[in-house]
Parts: sequence; structure tokens; C-alpha cells
Amino acid sequence: MIDVAIMGHGVVGSGVAEILINHNDRISGRVKAPVNLKYILDLRDFKGLTYSEKFIKDFNIILNDKDVRVVAEVMGGVNPAYDFVKKCLQSGKSVVTSNKELVASKGAELIKIAEDNNVNFLFEASVGGGIPILRPMVQCMAANDIDEIWGILNGTTNYILNKMIVDNMDFDSALKLAQNLGFAEKDPTADIEGHDACRKVCILAALAFNKHLYPNQVKTEGITNITSEDIEYADSFGAVIKLIGHAKKLPNGKITASVSPTLVAKDCILSSVNGVFNAVMLNGDQTGEVVFYGKGAGKEATASAVVADIMDCIKHLNARKYLSWEDGDNDYVDMAYDPETRLYVLIKSDDFESLKAQFNKIFGNNTTNIKNAEKGEIAFITEKSKQSLVEQKLSLFKNGISVKTLNTML
Ligand code: HSE
Repeated sequence: MIDVAIMGHGVVGSGVAEILINHNDRISGRVKAPVNLKYILDLRDFKGLTYSEKFIKDFNIILNDKDVRVVAEVMGGVNPAYDFVKKCLQSGKSVVTSNKELVASKGAELIKIAEDNNVNFLFEASVGGGIPILRPMVQCMAANDIDEIWGILNGTTNYILNKMIVDNMDFDSALKLAQNLGFAEKDPTADIEGHDACRKVCILAALAFNKHLYPNQVKTEGITNITSEDIEYADSFGAVIKLIGHAKKLPNGKITASVSPTLVAKDCILSSVNGVFNAVMLNGDQTGEVVFYGKGAGKEATASAVVADIMDCIKHLNARKYLSWEDGDNDYVDMAYDPETRLYVLIKSDDFESLKAQFNKIFGNNTTNIKNAEKGEIAFITEKSKQSLVEQKLSLFKNGISVKTLNTML
């Protein structure tokens, strides 16, 4: 018999408990040992559940119980999750987690502690919810040098943008729906400001490039400034707006990483990733582009990945599963990287004649597609050039003209 504990009984934690209990025969059969969910740690009271007797409020009960060999941390946040996970690993228990904030900020350290204590630390559910992505990337693509990653990594923002695009819904109503469906983080700021996607970029990049990328090294912008107007303009340019996480290995050995609302061409596979679905596209030097797609958030999908990690730990109680990377450093990211790119630009002014005159002087023919001049604003996509050159030109617009830019994958 293998005893297992769950720390946290929120959306994902309750899903993990239900799978372990309702599908116990299947799970025990597949790991070739009876699996027993012994404890669920949560400070709240959960009465009336068929498994109410499993709840405890004291972490030390799990820590001091030698029969508990695998612990699932699904509390979210760094504290107290970090302390609890560290102590479990140090006392010889394998840990699995869906907590991207924890892995993105403390992953290298926790992996090292797991290695030192000959136990496993697995976190498949931390990126892409139910999508098998981390193991396939590390194991099935092991013969490749991966040099670039693009991803739609946050179900909540993808759901919101999709509702704004397809149903003309406003931002707040779409966010409320996503929260009701259990996709959003406890504090949805992490979703809509891009922090959740940023953490997932860190984990993907760390695994792909074998070095810890920290959240403060990723240029991160959320979707709160995206309006229905941008969505309409994007449509007229043959694109949709998606929150794209990106990481790329540069020839100088450093990397560049970002999260930003981005115009994606309608013929790019990422443009058709809708609702709560996520997708990760990787470029391997042997495989070329590979895409992983599936439900990126939600109770059952995420819990399924957590339970699969629990099962992997049980099958490898005496062996190490390798998901690891080295610690990072301050100058790992090339902050001065200046990509060759096209930008979406929206300029507005009450004085449209002056706006047009300045636009013609500054950009001339150096744009493709200019839209909607009659509303006192000009939207366009710049020609491909160094981003710094476009920014220099945009800085020439005089006071009274507002300038908005978005990245594109055009
Ligand atoms: N809030 C996250 C999302 C949950 O919306 O993608 C899954 O990580």
C-alpha cells in the first residue's frame, strides 16, 4: 500500500482527490500497488464530502508520517508551499505540484533538494494544465536542440480574448465567466496581467535551455489594454490577438523572453487555439516545429496531470525521474535584444489633419495596410525592421497624439 497526501483542496486539489478516490482501481492497477489517499491538508472545513475524514489542518501530520511517500502540492502561491515542499523532499517524500509560481521562482533549488534526497519532484501540471508538454519536450525531443518556444499559456486570457472576438463580450463579463468556470487564479490579476503566462514561459525555457529563467527576467505585458477596437483592426489585418509567451535562444548564448498580447496571422496554427485551450509550439533542430495542444486550465484537466505525476512517483519510488536544469544568472537574458519585427500601431488625435501630415512625414510608404482613417485615428502594421528603429520613429509624433503598439507574429 502506498500512502499519498494532498496539500490544498481548491479547484485542482478537489479534482485530484476525486480522481484518486473514484478511479482508485484503475490507478492502483496501473502502478501495481494499492494507492491510498490518506490526508488532505486544508485550513478550511469541508463537511458532507464522502471523504471528509481525510482532512487535516496540521502539516506536521503529513511530514511525520513515514508511510506517506508522495505528496501533491496544489495550494498555489509560494508561501507556505515552498516551505512545505522543501520539508517533504528533505524528509524523503516525492512531491508533485501544479504550482507554476513555485516552480518558476524556486524550481532549480527544489530540484537540487530532490536530487540530494533521492526523491522525485515533478510538475507536469504547472504548464498547459492537462497537456502532456514537459515530459514530451524533455524526453521525446531529447535528441533536439530546441531554440524557440511560442505558447498560448493562459486559459483565462485566451477565454476572455475569444469571447471578446467571437461574442463581442466586454472584458469584465468574460473574466467573470472564466472565474465561474474555475479557470482563473484566486487573484485574476496574475492571469490578466500576464504573470501566470510568464511563470510558464520560465518553466518551459528552463527545461528547453537547461538554465533557470526567473520571472523578473521576462518582459511581461497582460491583456488589460486590449480593446474591441484593437480586435477589429487585427481582424482587418488578417490576424487575431492572443497573449503569446515567447522564449528564444540567441546566437550569443543568451536568451530573450516575453509575454505580450500579439497579433497572430489567421493561417498560423496558434490563431485557432480558442477558449480555455492552450498550445505550445517548439522548434527543434531535428523535428522542426512541433505543437502541443489541449485544455490548459480547469479542474479535471489539471488534476489529471497531477495524478499522472503521483503515479509516476509511485512507479519510481527507488529511481530518479529527470526533469532538471541549472540555476540561472543575472545576465542570462539579453535585455538589449532588438528583434527584426513588424508592429501593430494605433495612433489617435483630435486634430486628424495634423496626425495625417505627421504620419506621412514619419512613415511615408513604410507600412502595410492602413485602416480607418475616418475615425480620427490610423492603424497600421509596420514593415519588418529593427524594433528600436520603429520606436524611434514613433517617438517623433508630437504631443496630442496617442500611440499604442502591439507585437505581431506577422
Ligand atoms: N489561471 C490559469 C489559466 C490556470 O487560466 O491558465 C492554469 O494554470
